[in-house]
Amino acid sequence: MEVKMVLKYQNLISSMSLEEKIRLSSGKDNWRTVEMKHLEIPKITLSDGPHGLRHQEEGEDHLGINDSNPATCFPPACLTAASFDEDLLYEMGKAIGYEALCQNVQVVLGPGVNIKRNPLCGRNFEYFSEDPCLSSRLATGWVRGVQSMGVGTSLKHFAMNNQENNRMKSDSLADRKTMHDIYLKAFEGPVRDAKPYTVMASYNLIDGVYACEHPYLLRDVLRKKFGFEGVLVTDWGAMNDKVKSLQAGLDLEMPGGAMYFDEEVKEAIGSEKMDVSHLDQTVDRILELVFRTRNSREEVLSEYGPLDKESVDREKHHELARRVARESMVLLKNEDGILPLEKENAPRILVTGVLAEKPRYQGAGSSHINPYKVTSLLDGLDGRQIPYKYYQGYSLTDGVPDESLKEEILSAVEEDDIILVAAGLPDEYESEGFDRAHMRLPKQQDDLIMKLTKKSRKVVVLLYAGAPVEMPWADAVSAIFNLYLPGQAGGEAAVDLLFGEYSPSGKLPETIPLRYENHPTSEIFGVDNYEVEYREGIYVGYRYFDKAEKEVLFPFGHGLSYTAFQYQDLSLSRKEIRMEEEEEVTVSFRLRNTGPVEGKETAQLYLERVNQEGYVVKKSLKGFSKISLKPGEEKNIEIRLRTEDFCEYDLNLEKEVLYEGGYRIHIGASSRDLRLTTEIKSTGIQPDMATVPEYYRKPEGKPSSRDFEMLKGTRVRKIQTGKPYTVDHTLYEMKDALQMRIVMRILKRMLAGATGVKDENDNAYKVVYSMFMHTPIKRLSLLSPDKMPKYLGESIVHIANGEFLKAAKKARDKK
Ligand code: BGC
Repeated sequence: MEVKMVLKYQNLISSMSLEEKIRLSSGKDNWRTVEMKHLEIPKITLSDGPHGLRHQEEGEDHLGINDSNPATCFPPACLTAASFDEDLLYEMGKAIGYEALCQNVQVVLGPGVNIKRNPLCGRNFEYFSEDPCLSSRLATGWVRGVQSMGVGTSLKHFAMNNQENNRMKSDSLADRKTMHDIYLKAFEGPVRDAKPYTVMASYNLIDGVYACEHPYLLRDVLRKKFGFEGVLVTDWGAMNDKVKSLQAGLDLEMPGGAMYFDEEVKEAIGSEKMDVSHLDQTVDRILELVFRTRNSREEVLSEYGPLDKESVDREKHHELARRVARESMVLLKNEDGILPLEKENAPRILVTGVLAEKPRYQGAGSSHINPYKVTSLLDGLDGRQIPYKYYQGYSLTDGVPDESLKEEILSAVEEDDIILVAAGLPDEYESEGFDRAHMRLPKQQDDLIMKLTKKSRKVVVLLYAGAPVEMPWADAVSAIFNLYLPGQAGGEAAVDLLFGEYSPSGKLPETIPLRYENHPTSEIFGVDNYEVEYREGIYVGYRYFDKAEKEVLFPFGHGLSYTAFQYQDLSLSRKEIRMEEEEEVTVSFRLRNTGPVEGKETAQLYLERVNQEGYVVKKSLKGFSKISLKPGEEKNIEIRLRTEDFCEYDLNLEKEVLYEGGYRIHIGASSRDLRLTTEIKSTGIQPDMATVPEYYRKPEGKPSSRDFEMLKGTRVRKIQTGKPYTVDHTLYEMKDALQMRIVMRILKRMLAGATGVKDENDNAYKVVYSMFMHTPIKRLSLLSPDKMPKYLGESIVHIANGEFLKAAKKARDKK
């Protein structure tokens, strides 16, 4: 029986032609939706975020090659995650929402809540954490903040998009428990609690089906289970089959302009392959987004007055960027209390590392902000009139190291000097579009740090990197400050902490393994970029290291302070939880600052199922609370847990359940520094312990493909990458076909012309070139309809197949 939908904009939709409805379901250009003046439908603008606003004027590219309008560059998610502070993310979101209002932008594309499955994912700097609870809470704060200004957000990239290599064609394969308990969980919280106006569907496939047309994920999970009612938008150029997408509940195809699928949609409706109600519902949701953001803009402006690009108080936002960075930077090690440094009568300070002068403060790709200004570590020191001597130390390029740079600082060091080394990853190591090749710093930097530790016992390393690096010198240095990528005010924020103006309070949002080889996915990540087996299952990040009882360099949740905290008096509001009850459990304890200075502490709550047999993690984060305490001050903390926080996905029952038995509730200063523990009983379903392969009961060594197939219950299918080529193949896949050599040369020239970046060694060129080569031809036509019209893409495919006559005919007909 056909269910009649109630559409809010029924009257308006009834007055639209079929062509108009189809037209509205894709954008006008890179950033705008279609305007229909005769129907009084205005356009809206979507712009990238998420750590600032990347608004490009009409007609600009989408990958951040061309500069966007200046905006505040707040720290990217890799650093803000370490704040463990939802309210801070709200404030930052609000400021970004305000800048969006000033630039007449209606939707900011963010935040990214993809889980950090492996430290080498090139885009980890844009994501929060390896933990879904932390990701979800921080994203909720950010979304609420932006939307409090009447500006929409786009929670991305839904779903299972955890690597950049071959991101357009990789097929993420995971068992359902892993999908639900880890990867989808990060989306659930913000969808339910913050109601983002839009969600962005990712490029990749999941179990052989493109994310943009995945009925289970889009319809059953996102819309029905999580209750998402907003607009589902494609990632830029992610559409594969629009008819299937509309049927699965996807709404808006971005960017627009190609009209690649318009005829197919029309035909599908004409031939009754697809019911027009799918399109009507899509149009209804798009109209709601357009009118809602337009109206709320009017409402907010009535409070703030007219706004334009110049209305942003740049200094105020710079100060906020500084505070966000300061509250997030993580002090990993501080031997003998070498930090904070003295301002007066201090020993000589030598600063080395080119990053101290030219910091890396954000990552490359579509999130790249054009900042109002940037302060380096040296600027921060100058601002406080702190005397120092600076030596470049190394160059950021990977070429032959300039030994003289190293010798210069080494010969200047005296035993009592304090040496601040700014170390980190060059831009070309981590970026949207490709993954890192290894987890090391450039060799020059590791060598320099090691040599410095031989000359001075006071070496402080400041790390600039969007993701963990191996630290072979960790034992030899005195202190390590992880600044991640600190945004435009990072230099001042670091100096605030180094000299004790504030006590550090960031905590690691991810595990730093001793060596990359120790990571559960080290043997599989990046090896097969087509059939991507999530063999480690639910054992992601600390969930693996805890279960496997492996040592790590720095654990999840770790971060030092200049003061000390005492935890005491743990109690629960109830002794038992049951599935059918929706009541909360209140976990209370007291926290006291027992140290010498004011500081903030993040108390973390972990749940551990008492019965550890079967496919179950050792423990998982379910709540946290960050509070500020003066010396000697004590406060009561309450963290609330809902019944669903105890629930896990059961592979046999195919739903989330509460298991019989009980849970340990741990409160700690990190995942490996648990201070208080109590237990609660649970009345629910008996766990089934027999059905998973041995590895998943006790992860030892690395799981095999066979183990994984048994866990998942299906065989891994092979994706076809060779001839005959179709528009779903990439240039990378076709490049070696004999007849493609000349075509490739021409295309390369076109790319240089289109991006304006001609130097092949330029990082911006490398990023775009890699994306260009790994994008299926069809999607190139969606992303750049003027440079790669449909007929041209199809002609290239014919050439790759050796079908020259067909190619010539296509070019002649231009259809
Ligand atoms: C990215 C998205 C981004 C979009 C628009 C895509 O390449 O994956 O995160 O929002 O481009 O620039």
